[in-house]
Amino acid sequence: MKLFIDTANMQEIETANKWGVICGVTTNPTLIAREGRDVKEVIKEIASIVDGPISGEVNSLDAEGMITEGRAIASIHPQIVVKIPMCQAGLEAVSVLSKEGIKTNVTLIFTPAQALLAARAGASFVSPFVGRLEDIDSNGIQLVEQVAVIFQSFQIKTEIIAASIRSPQHIGECALAGADIATVPFKVLEKSFEHPLTSAGIEQFKKDFEGMKK
Ligand code: E4P
Repeated sequence: MKLFIDTANMQEIETANKWGVICGVTTNPTLIAREGRDVKEVIKEIASIVDGPISGEVNSLDAEGMITEGRAIASIHPQIVVKIPMCQAGLEAVSVLSKEGIKTNVTLIFTPAQALLAARAGASFVSPFVGRLEDIDSNGIQLVEQVAVIFQSFQIKTEIIAASIRSPQHIGECALAGADIATVPFKVLEKSFEHPLTSAGIEQFKKDFEGMKK
């Protein structure tokens, strides 16, 4: 399973990119609004840092608007993936854009049926939301697993981006469930380096090394 970072913050992207663990970026209107910057400007800057797929979301809610916006976003850089919400108009837009060779990521996936429809419309990626399902006492990891089984059974090439990741545990669980990618917020990535036994081990090795020098 590959790792993307789920942020529009340039500092976070630069730091995670230096760690060498990420190979793509997802943004959404909430993340872009948090930065108070223009979406196209942000996406262009991200593409200059990370060598991999970068999802930028459309704002329109009608198919024509999404198609026009999608073409404009895709023209910013060859790495751009147009992020489109799961709905009838969204899949109409995905169908048109995918035939033009524009990559799409269908977001806000909460059922296996939604994932299958998005894939059949031509989506390059689908994003099942793990954390938001758990917020309503549903099983987000099970959704990822079900989508993975369906895509494998029917040899569907659409990649699964496990989204709405809230903990390092989610990362491991999504990998086991068969996600192709997990898109992870910076704070969760940071936490994923840690374990109390790793810290204790480092401290002990440091002490032993100091002792050897004497
Ligand atoms: C990514 O594509 C999603 O927009 C994001 O993971 C949503 O995460 P949230 O549920 O924490 O807002």
